[in-house]
Amino acid sequence: MCGIFAYCSFLKEKSRKEVLEVLCQGLARQEYRGYDSAGLGIDGDKTGEVMFFKEVGKVAGLRKQIASSAVDMNKTCVSQVSIAHTRWATHGPPSTSNCHPLRSDPTAEFLVVHNGIVTNNNALRLVLQKRGYTFESDTDTEAVAKLIKYVYDNQADKKNLTFTDLVKTVLKELEGSFAFVFKSKHFPNEVVTARRGSPLLIGVKTDKKLKVDFVDVEFAGQDNKDVKIDSLQPGSPTALLAPPSINPKDGLPQPIEFFVASDAAAVVEHTKRVLYLEDDDIAHIADGELHIHRLRRKDDNAQSPGQIASTRTIETLEIEIAAIMKGKFDHFMQKEIYEQPESVVNTMRGRVNFDTNQITLGGLRAYLPIMRRGRRIVFIACGTSYHSCIATRAIFEELTEIPVSVELASDFLDRKTPIFRDDVCVFLSQSGETADTILALRYCMDRGALCVGVVNTVGSTISRETHCGVHINAGPEIGVASTKAYTSQYIALLMMALQMSEDRISLTERRNQIIAGLLAIPAQIKKVLEMDPVIQQLAHSVADNKSLLLMGRGFQYATCLEGALKIKEISYMHSEGILAGELKHGPLALIDENMPVIIIMTQDSLYPKVQSAFSQITARKAQPIVLCNEGDDGIPANAKTIRVPRTVDCLQGMLNIIPMQLLSYHLAVFKGFDVDFPRNLAKSVTTE
Ligand code: F6R
Repeated sequence: MCGIFAYCSFLKEKSRKEVLEVLCQGLARQEYRGYDSAGLGIDGDKTGEVMFFKEVGKVAGLRKQIASSAVDMNKTCVSQVSIAHTRWATHGPPSTSNCHPLRSDPTAEFLVVHNGIVTNNNALRLVLQKRGYTFESDTDTEAVAKLIKYVYDNQADKKNLTFTDLVKTVLKELEGSFAFVFKSKHFPNEVVTARRGSPLLIGVKTDKKLKVDFVDVEFAGQDNKDVKIDSLQPGSPTALLAPPSINPKDGLPQPIEFFVASDAAAVVEHTKRVLYLEDDDIAHIADGELHIHRLRRKDDNAQSPGQIASTRTIETLEIEIAAIMKGKFDHFMQKEIYEQPESVVNTMRGRVNFDTNQITLGGLRAYLPIMRRGRRIVFIACGTSYHSCIATRAIFEELTEIPVSVELASDFLDRKTPIFRDDVCVFLSQSGETADTILALRYCMDRGALCVGVVNTVGSTISRETHCGVHINAGPEIGVASTKAYTSQYIALLMMALQMSEDRISLTERRNQIIAGLLAIPAQIKKVLEMDPVIQQLAHSVADNKSLLLMGRGFQYATCLEGALKIKEISYMHSEGILAGELKHGPLALIDENMPVIIIMTQDSLYPKVQSAFSQITARKAQPIVLCNEGDDGIPANAKTIRVPRTVDCLQGMLNIIPMQLLSYHLAVFKGFDVDFPRNLAKSVTTE
C-alpha cells in the first residue's frame, strides 16, 4: 500500500531530467503498491524552493505532466535529494490535494511521503488546527508534515538542532504504522527516513567496499540512543562512506547514490546492494553518508538488544531486472501465470531429492523436533495465501497427524485467539509485509509459540521476524492478483508436511507417491497452460453474466475459493466458491438455468459426492461447466468440460487452479479492465 521512493545523489551534479527519470522509474516499479495517484518533489529554481509534480492515476500520467511542463529540464538540481510517492488511498479520495509529497505550509518548509496509517491523526490534526495550522488535504500524512514544522518552530536552539532529532521528536508522537521520508529546506541535501510497521530499504550505489556494523549500541535506560553504522572502520563512530574515493581516471570523487524505497524492485536497476531498515530505525542520509539511529519508544521497555538485530548488513539482492519486466507478455499477471512451470521448480530446487525421496528445508531443520512436538499447527494468512493453507490443510493433518487450524489473520486477531507455547504458528505471505499477518505474528511471538514464516519476499518483515521459515522462491510477483505465489506456497507447505513426517514408516508409500507427483507437476502445469485458447473462449462465453459460482469439495474447495477470488478481483464479476457439501444447506437456492456454475470434479475419494452435487444442480436446470480429468468418461457427454491431467489427490489443486487463473485473466482482458492494477486494490496490504 503506497510506494515511497527517494533519490539522493552526491558528488555528481544531475540535471532535473535525470533526477525526474530516476524518480518516475522508481515509482513505476512500485506502482503495484498503489496507483490512485503519483507525485514527487524536487528542487525549484531557488535554494529552498520546491517544485511539485502531482497527478491522479498512474505514473504514466505523471510522466506526461512532466513532459509537457515548461520547466527547464537541463538545469542542474540545486540540492541532491528528491522524494516521490505512489498512493493507495486510505484517508481521502484520490486527488491532487491528497497526493504526496504533503507539505507543512505553502512554502513547503518540510515535505513528507508516507506509507501506512497514522492512527492518532485526528487528535494531532485538532491540536494543530487549534494552533492555527490550515490543512489542505484529507490525509493522515499532512498532520505529520504540519507537526514537524510545529516542532521546528518551537525549538529555541535551532542552530544545534539536527534533522534526525527533529524527526525523532515527531515520531514519538505518532501512533499507527509508517514508513516516511522527510525533506526540508532547513536541511538541504539531507533526507531522514524512518519505519515502524511498513517496509523500507536503502539501496547504496558506490564503488566502495562496504561493511556495515552497528557501533555504539546502547539500549539500557537510554532514550533515543543513536546507533551508527560504519563502513570504513567498523567499531568506530566514523560515518559510512566518508571520505569519497577518487576515480583514478579523471581524478574526480566517485559519485555516491542512495535510493530509499518500499520495495527492492525500485532499486535493483541501480544497485543490488541494499540495507533493510528495522522497525524504529531512523536513517539519516546527508553529504554522501548514511547513519542509522534508533528510536526508543515510551512503551518499549521490553525492547532489548536481544530482540533487535544489533547489526545492519548491506545485502546483495538476487533479483534480476528481467524478473520485474513484462517481457513478451501483455500483463504481469499473464507472465506470472505462465511462469508457474518454472516457479514451482524453483520452490523445490535443492529441497526435494527425487532419487532418495527426501525433503530438506534447511531453514526448518533445527526446529523440526519442536514442530513435531507441537500440540497443534495454526496457519495464519490473508487472501490467496490463506487459500493455499486451506488447500494443504488436509494433507498436512494426514501426514503430520497434528491438528491444523487455518486462520484469516484479521479474524484471528479480532477473536484474540488463545495461543500457547506448544503451538506452531505458520505465517504465509507472498509479500511478507501484510499488516494483519505481521500483527498476528507478533501476537503469537508474545505468547511464546514457535513462529514459522513461508514467504516469497526475501528480507521482508515476516521473513525477518519469524523464528525460522521457508522462502518459496517464486521470484518477484508484480501483478496484483496473486498466481504463481499460490502454487509455490502450496508446494512449500507440502514440502513442510513431508519433511515433518519423514520419520513415519507407515506413511512411506503415501509420501513417495506425493514426491513422485511433485516431479511430474511442472510438465503437467505446462500442459494445462496449453489450454489457454480454450479458456479464453470460455471466458468470452460467460463474460456477460453477473455471477459465476465455483463448486467443489475436499482438496478442491480451496480451488473454488481461490478461483472465485481471482475472478472478482480483476474482472469485477461476482463469484463465489461453494463447498459442494454445503450446497443443500443454502446455495442450491441460487441455482437455475441462468446461473453459470463451474463444478470441479477431478478424480479423488470425494468424486462420487461431487457427482451427486452435479446431479442436484442439473436437476435444477443448471448447465455446469465441469473441470475434470483427462480421460474421465463418467462425465455426461453433453456437459461442457475443461480437462486437466490427473495427479495425486493432494496435488490436483495446483493443476485445477491454472484454468481458473486463465479464466479470470481473460474475463478481465475481455471486459477491458486493467489486469495488473485492479480498482481499489494494491499488492502489498501494509495497513490493517
Ligand atoms: C489476491 C491477493 C491478495 C493477497 C493478500 C495477502 O490475489 O493477492 O488476496 O493474497 O493480500 O498478501 P500476502 O500474501 O502478501 O500476505
